[in-house]
Amino acid sequence: MAAENPTYIFWNDELTRWEDATVHVTSIAWSALGAVFEGIRGYWNEEQERLHVFRLTEHLDRLQSSTRLVRLPLGYSTPELSDIVVRLLKENECREDTYIFPLVYGADAEDKRFDPSALSSALLIRTKPMASHLNTDFQQHARVSTWTRISDTVMPPRIKNISNYRNGQLATHEVRQDGYDVAFMLNPHGKVSEAPGACIAHVAKGKLITPDVTSGILESITRDAVITLVREELGMEVIERPVDRTELYLADEVFTCGTAAEITPVVSVDKYPVGSGEIGATTGRLMSLLEDILRGRNEKYAEWNTSVDMAMTTA
Ligand SMILES: Cc1ncc(COP(=O)(O)O)c(C=O)c1O
Repeated sequence: MAAENPTYIFWNDELTRWEDATVHVTSIAWSALGAVFEGIRGYWNEEQERLHVFRLTEHLDRLQSSTRLVRLPLGYSTPELSDIVVRLLKENECREDTYIFPLVYGADAEDKRFDPSALSSALLIRTKPMASHLNTDFQQHARVSTWTRISDTVMPPRIKNISNYRNGQLATHEVRQDGYDVAFMLNPHGKVSEAPGACIAHVAKGKLITPDVTSGILESITRDAVITLVREELGMEVIERPVDRTELYLADEVFTCGTAAEITPVVSVDKYPVGSGEIGATTGRLMSLLEDILRGRNEKYAEWNTSVDMAMTTA
């Protein structure tokens, strides 16, 4: 089993031993301001001795978009990054569910924070164990936060900019103080946007409804997968449109979805029980479907996974 800290991280263009990957303390203030990242997961299949990395290319393409929007040069193509991730997973002998975290940051941002042409970027990629909660009875109680979600005219939620997460952190701290698990955020138009680290979907009258990509959400890769699965496998209609907060109070099912959230059932919103207050049928079916795909047990969606053969690494 890999330790919490991996043997290597990818940094400064090479695999670097964890203990050697250090920066000077004076560089911490501004380097994260425009930093962008990805959150990617690999799912271990013991029988196959393979780690299935979910939609790696899509995540790396989104990293390219994020760097483009914040004007940080990345300097690697998606296939190059993909090869690096696979090499890192093998070198770190990741034989368990694993989180992969590429981060692109301003390497010398100290006095250059408003001068994009002067910024040079650095890339690090780390791995760490992260167990799945799919098909456990993990579920959440949500509260609509009083904090408004950032918008495209302020800080674009469409990309994974580290600074964006201050907004979600304020919301999470607020609702957790009051005993709730997860914040739901409204956009400046008062419509539902997303949770601080996941998208929101609900089921009403046999349809899946989710805020559209101009509602102030990250263009989530899991949300995209869920939409495909609901249409293709459950035969249900999916509607992407602005969503009112009270629709969630009246919904039959509500869940969040994302790389970290996977599919997480939400059983109450602002103390309104969702449906019967139990995990709904559609949510349950989606969780099972997704788990099979993530673990490499569903041939039809095999192309969603980059499967890393760990048979040659030591157990
Ligand atoms: C703000 C936010 N929204 C939504 C998501 C879900 O996106 P994805 O499914 O691509 O992980 C994430 C990340 O997981 C996120 O950070």
